[in-house]
Amino acid sequence: MQHLITTADFTKEEILNIFDDARIFLDMESSEVLKGKIIVNLFFENSTRTRGAFEMAAKRLGAQVISLDVGTSSTKKGETIFDTVTNINAMGPDAIVIRHSDCNFHKTLIDYVDCPILNAGAGKNAHPTQALLDLFTIVEHYNGDTEGKKVAIIGDIRTSRVAGSNKKLLPRFGMDVSFVAPDCFKSEDPEFKQYDNISEIIDEVDVVMSLRTQLERHNEMYFSSLHEYAKDYCITKDTFGDRDILLLHPGPVNRNVDISDEMLVDPRNKILEQVRNGVAVRMAILKKLVKDQ
Ligand code: NCD
Repeated sequence: MQHLITTADFTKEEILNIFDDARIFLDMESSEVLKGKIIVNLFFENSTRTRGAFEMAAKRLGAQVISLDVGTSSTKKGETIFDTVTNINAMGPDAIVIRHSDCNFHKTLIDYVDCPILNAGAGKNAHPTQALLDLFTIVEHYNGDTEGKKVAIIGDIRTSRVAGSNKKLLPRFGMDVSFVAPDCFKSEDPEFKQYDNISEIIDEVDVVMSLRTQLERHNEMYFSSLHEYAKDYCITKDTFGDRDILLLHPGPVNRNVDISDEMLVDPRNKILEQVRNGVAVRMAILKKLVKDQ
């Protein structure tokens, strides 16, 4: 049995096989690949895209989905989250999809469950399915030729699990990742080049991945307003000029803070393609972990 806790759980070959399946699943045809299987969604943090896409993916494959309302579950009665998960596991699901604010919670579960655990977001650390769908979007855009591509991740790098997973995954496919952020949002990881302003590298980059300012994860307010932050970090037409750059964002986008209205309708932005790819990639991951286990 295999789990997906971080992208390191899959070899490069496994990822390419997942992408082969995802390409087929992009037609969004419903099938019976997971007929008779039951998948439980446990989201202890807000989610629109990830939860919706996991649910859509499972249902497209013919599985049944139980999305537990954790707001009314027994964690509110003093039960630990660990005990909630082991109790759900005792009911015999075929997979448990979990999002939780604790960075290390998912991996502690592995020894106590009888079905695959799929990480749908772990605190500030990891968001493997998002990074895999981001990689898939880049792979498709460049027809598989990702070697040497330069990716700038801009925004709140420090608390972003999307950056946390992408900085590990994209270099495995030959990409050069750097970060652009104000000091308060910079990464503490010394391995990566960091810049104060996107103008320093805009002429070199192939992909810009914009991230939301995750104010809920910070204890202090660093800016007088998001408008102040946006002056330097919002991606606008002026930022891109007529350069041929792929613009990505995991969502939710804060309009005119992360990306301007104009750039949200610019064909270089592939955000809705990422969302669609997110369903297909998760279908392929579920097939691998639940059917092929
Ligand atoms: C992100 C998340 O929750 O980690 N969104 C997502 O899953 N698509 C990013 C965010 O909340 O800013």
